[in-house]
Parts: sequence; C-alpha cells; structure tokens
Amino acid sequence: MNWNSNLINNLHWSDTIINKEGKEKVAAKIAEKVKDGDVLGVGSGSTVFMALFAIARRVKEEGLNVKAIPTSVEISMALTNLGIPMTSLYEHRPDWLFDGADEVDPNRSLIKGRGGAMFKEKLLISSSPVNFIIVDDSKLVDKLGSKFPVPIEVFPQALLHAEKELQKLGVRELILRPAKGKDGPVITEAGNVILDAWFDDIPADTELRIKSITGVIESGLFINYNVEIMVA
Ligand code: 5RP
Repeated sequence: MNWNSNLINNLHWSDTIINKEGKEKVAAKIAEKVKDGDVLGVGSGSTVFMALFAIARRVKEEGLNVKAIPTSVEISMALTNLGIPMTSLYEHRPDWLFDGADEVDPNRSLIKGRGGAMFKEKLLISSSPVNFIIVDDSKLVDKLGSKFPVPIEVFPQALLHAEKELQKLGVRELILRPAKGKDGPVITEAGNVILDAWFDDIPADTELRIKSITGVIESGLFINYNVEIMVA
C-alpha cells in the first residue's frame, strides 16, 4: 500500500531560489554525467535539488538504474518524490558525488553549510572517490569568508567552551544561528546547534584547529578536498 500524501508529492524548494538560471544550467550539466548503475552521493541545497529533477528526467526517459545516498532530510524527501531509490553508507560507497557550495576560492577550497547539512556533506565527500561541486558564478570568491561565515556544528552543552576556544582562533564575530519557524536556535539533524563564525583570515590549518575543539562535530570549511568545480 502507498501513502497518498501531497506533502511529498508536491514538494517544492522551501524558499526563493537565488540565481535560478545559473543553477539550472549547472544542474543540467551534472545530470549528463549520470550513468546506468551509478551510486550517487547527493549533497544538499537548492542547486542539488534542481539537479535531482534533471537526473530524475533522465532516469525516467532512459530507464537508468541509479541509487542515491542523501545528505539531509530535505534531499531524502526530494528523492522519494522523484522516485529515485535511496541507499546508505552502510550498504554502498558512492561512485561519485555532487554538492553545492556557498563559497569557492581559487584553490578549490570551500565554505558550505548555509543549509546546516555540512556534517553529512563532509562525511559523504570524504567517502566518495570523485566529487563535483556545482555552483553559479556568484559563489566564486578571491578569499574564503568574504561573503559567508564558517558554520560550525556544536554539541549544545559544548557551546560556551567552543565559543571560548574559537575566540582564541581569532573569530571576529560569532552568531548562534537562529531558527526560522521555530523559537530559539537551529537544531541540526544530529540534534546539535550551529555557530556561524566570521573570520578576517582563514589560514589553511583553520579547519583542523576548529575540528580539534571538544564538542565541535564538524565545520563547513572544506580546505584542499578532492573536488572538481563545475560553474554555470
Ligand atoms: C547546504 C550546503 C549547500 O550546498 C550550499 O549552501 C549551497 O546551497 P545553494 O545551492 O542553495 O546555493 O552546503 O548545507
């Protein structure tokens, strides 16, 4: 028996999609890379969401047999809506992965996590041998941290300890990310909170130094990862 639910069947992106045209172009480009039998790692965000629609069209028209490992509830729901079968890291390693980003610097280092899914996104990127970052050109920056803060997922009871340690790393401003549609802070899918950290400078060791703070689960800094950037 199937659920007859409009909540999944009429799923739309929850907000206005900024730079929709550029995102649509790069979404179409990534969909062309899908091959029969692929296990795809699927990042999160509106660009990824649009890419899934383009992939679903190919799956339907060409009868492709693919499986997807999602990085968030939002993407799990989109996969369900589109009829793309899901699997997990217990069963499969991705053949390749695609994901969006908030900032990309000239060395292909990234800031991710506007959507709060950076923990699972980093886990998937680290598990996948080939990774494509799909962005419109508004995401290209000369210096990381110019437009976006670095999101840091923190175990709630470790918040004040993390604040103290992050100040030692030269954080200019630290904001406990507030929720929209709920009172209080954003609670991540793993039950943690997010600190958005603005830095004047992000030296190469910053990712490791943030990660070494007890209570930090993960950050949205991706320095020197094995990624190919696809720009619309
Ligand atoms: C979510 C992310 C997204 O990939 C990033 O925020 C880009 O999103 P969008 O494609 O909507 O611009 O890291 O945690």
